[in-house]
Amino acid sequence: MGGQAGETELPELQAVSGPLTKAAIFLLVRVDAGAEQTVKDLLADLPGLQRTVGFRGLGDGLTCVAGISSGAWDRLYGGPRPAGLHELPVFEGARHVSVTTKADLLFHLRAERMDLCFELETLIMNRLRGSVTVVDEVPGFRYFDARDVLGFVDGTENPTGRGIAAAVLVDDDEPFDGGSYVVVQKYLHDMASWNALTTEQQELVIGRRKLSDVELSDEDKPANSHIALNVITDDDGNEMEILRDNMPFGRPAHDEFGTYFIGYAKSPAVLERMLSNMFVGSPPGNYDRILDFSTPHTGALFYVPTVDFLEEPPAAPPEPETPAAATPTGSSLGIGSLRRSPRS
Ligand code: HEM
Repeated sequence: MGGQAGETELPELQAVSGPLTKAAIFLLVRVDAGAEQTVKDLLADLPGLQRTVGFRGLGDGLTCVAGISSGAWDRLYGGPRPAGLHELPVFEGARHVSVTTKADLLFHLRAERMDLCFELETLIMNRLRGSVTVVDEVPGFRYFDARDVLGFVDGTENPTGRGIAAAVLVDDDEPFDGGSYVVVQKYLHDMASWNALTTEQQELVIGRRKLSDVELSDEDKPANSHIALNVITDDDGNEMEILRDNMPFGRPAHDEFGTYFIGYAKSPAVLERMLSNMFVGSPPGNYDRILDFSTPHTGALFYVPTVDFLEEPPAAPPEPETPAAATPTGSSLGIGSLRRSPRS
C-alpha cells in the first residue's frame, strides 16, 4: 500500500486474507451508550490479545478480524469515514428478502483449533462485558472436504495469490487504503426440502458437481444457479471477486443446519451486486435457487480498518464552539494519519 510521494511505510493489516481454518467464531455486538472508549481500547489491544493466545498454539493460525459498522464509526472515531461504509441495504425480490441486523462490531475469529478461538473470545468478552450487548455468536466448523451442510464444496473459486489483495484491499490511491469491507449473513437451511431433491437437481441449484466439485458447463448451468448469479464482471469484462470463508454451523437436535456466510471485498458494491443478483435476480425475477432452501437470519456490513488505525486512531476533530472555530486548519485526519513506522 502507499499512494503518497516518498511513502515507503506499509500499513499493518488485519488478517483478512488469513487461510481457511478448521474452526471459527462469528461474534456480533452493539456498543452500549457511554462505552465507546472501552471498546476503542479493546480494539487497540486486539493484536496483543491475539498474540497472547495465539502463541500458546503455535502453528494453529489464530487470527481475529474486527469490523466496524457505519453506525458505530462516528461514535467511536468521528472524523473522516471510509467512503463505502453504510448500513447494509435490504435486498427484496419477488420471492425472497434479505435482512439487515443492527450490529456495531464484528469479530471474526479463526484458528485450526476451536479452543484458541474460544480463549480469545473469552478475553475479548472479559474486556467488553457490561459495555456491549451481544447480538449473535456463532461457532463454525469445517465439514469434511470444506463442504457446506448442503454437501457441496464451498470456497473453491476464492481468489488466490496476488488476486487476494486485489479483491479485498481498498485501493492504495483511495483514503482508508489497506482496509476491507466485509458482509456477514447467517443462513439456515431447510434440509428436508433440500434432501428431497436428487443429487442432479441439487447440482443445478449450485452449478457444480456435488462429489467432484467440477463446475457445470455453460450449457448445463442454469441461469438461476448460485454460480451463474455470483460470477460478476465490471464494465471492462473483468471478474469482480470477493474472498469467502463460509462456515457450517448447527445443532442437529434442534433441527438447525446453517451456513455462516462471510465475504470480504475492496468495495461493498461488489458484495451488494452479488446480493442483488441473488435476492432480486438478474434479470429481476431470475433469483438464486439456493434461497429456496436457505433463509438469512442476520446481515450486516462492516469496514475492517488496518491494525495501525485500531492501535492509533486519529483524534476526533473537536466540536466547533463558534463558526469561526470550524475553519479548516490544513491538518489532515485522512489517510496520512493512518501511517506510522513499522513496529519493531
Ligand atoms: C446459503 C449461503 C451460501 C452457500 C451455502 C454458498 C455456497 C457456495 C458454493 C457451494 C459455491 C461453489 C464453490 C465455490 O466456488 O466456493 C459458492 C460459490 C460462490 N458463492 Fe456462495 N454460498 C452462499 C452464499 C453466498 C453469498 C451470500 C454470496 C455473495 C454475497 C456468495 C458468493 C459466492 C461467490 C462469489 C462464489 C464463487 C462463484 C465463482 O466464481 O464460481 N455466496 N457458494
